[in-house]
Amino acid sequence: MTETTKSLSIAPFPPELVAPGSAEAPFVVALAAEALPEGSLRRVTFGDLDVLLAHTSNGVVAVDDRCPHMSAPLSLGSLDGCVVACPLHRGRFDLANGEVVGMPTTGGLLPDGTYVPVWTPDGQPPRSDPPGPKSDARRLTRVRRFRYYPLRLHDGRIEIRLPAEVAAEVTAGA
Ligand code: FES
Repeated sequence: MTETTKSLSIAPFPPELVAPGSAEAPFVVALAAEALPEGSLRRVTFGDLDVLLAHTSNGVVAVDDRCPHMSAPLSLGSLDGCVVACPLHRGRFDLANGEVVGMPTTGGLLPDGTYVPVWTPDGQPPRSDPPGPKSDARRLTRVRRFRYYPLRLHDGRIEIRLPAEVAAEVTAGA
């Protein structure tokens, strides 16, 4: 057993945020544990489902590899403790609980529907977003909460529970 495997643990997540259809699904292999050192982000693809594996300071979590703002791949972002930063609009999200830590620079709606304006540098007057369909789209885009895929550590590998239809596709193609 390597140092990475020994130190790796599975992080808890809010049970109400489990990905639909995955709570009771069978586990399938996602990745060798040693391929995910602490602080790293990896995309793992199952059929047409891209999953983000993140080795946070709480342990490993799995969510969709799509930013909860406008779906950019979070695996291309950065991880600080439990907070993942998106490469597209600099939104920051806590993988421990799914909360928004830093609103995307575009502004828009928080998960509870609260409106947040376009980002403005400190000391500058608030920026106006020129009216039009793109501005409306930014204003009305609601940041979603993460959906988590249950994980376990088995034989030095990270295993994942996927929605039943994805798991069936993966198993059939194995
Ligand atoms: S797509 Fe990630 S912050 Fe906008």
